[in-house]
Amino acid sequence: MLIELDKWYKIMAPRTTVLVSTVDAQGRTNAAPFSFVMPVSGKPPILAVAMAPTRHTLANIKETGDFVVNLPGEELLTQLMVCAKPLPRGSSEIKEAGLHEEKAKTVSSPRIRECFGWFECKLREIVDAGDHQIVLGDILQAEAAEQGSAPLLHIGGADFSLPGKVLKAGSK
Ligand SMILES: Cc1cc2nc3c(=O)[nH]c(=O)nc-3n(C[C@H](O)[C@H](O)[C@H](O)COP(=O)(O)O)c2cc1C
Repeated sequence: MLIELDKWYKIMAPRTTVLVSTVDAQGRTNAAPFSFVMPVSGKPPILAVAMAPTRHTLANIKETGDFVVNLPGEELLTQLMVCAKPLPRGSSEIKEAGLHEEKAKTVSSPRIRECFGWFECKLREIVDAGDHQIVLGDILQAEAAEQGSAPLLHIGGADFSLPGKVLKAGSK
């Protein structure tokens, strides 16, 4: 079965979903979900997020040079979808969703308190790639909540899944 080429990634799912929080030059905060996310390097620690050029998140990162990648758990699904709403630039989806900002330790962008993992990132480079731009971030600080949670996995649209069966490869 051939797959329509502009939807090729639909079978490359589910994908880890993150909430990227940012701030603009005027100090206005923002958060949005992203699932085109990839770990890139361990040493130095680098991650990549592909963003459509219209995203306010991308504009903020270009202005301030930093961002926080927050990991939301299952209990934040509703809030995460509120953060996906196209609010006017400068309106904070974090507040709209009833989430709480916390000061990050190494960057100007805020962290989202309710998440279970936080990567504070400094912009390394932005690479043009088709209809997205790849934001490469140097992770300055990585932190996890004592009470871990499972990452939300994006299937597509409003569909998500959770990590399920653990399979061990190796001898029978
Ligand atoms: C689960 C989920 C994953 C998403 N992943 C991406 C993504 O990887 N890249 C992207 O550009 N937009 C993605 N979006 C769309 C943005 O989150 C959405 O357009 C949002 O309003 C952008 O907010 P902003 O303009 O404040 O940055 C995703 C949406 C959802 C619900």
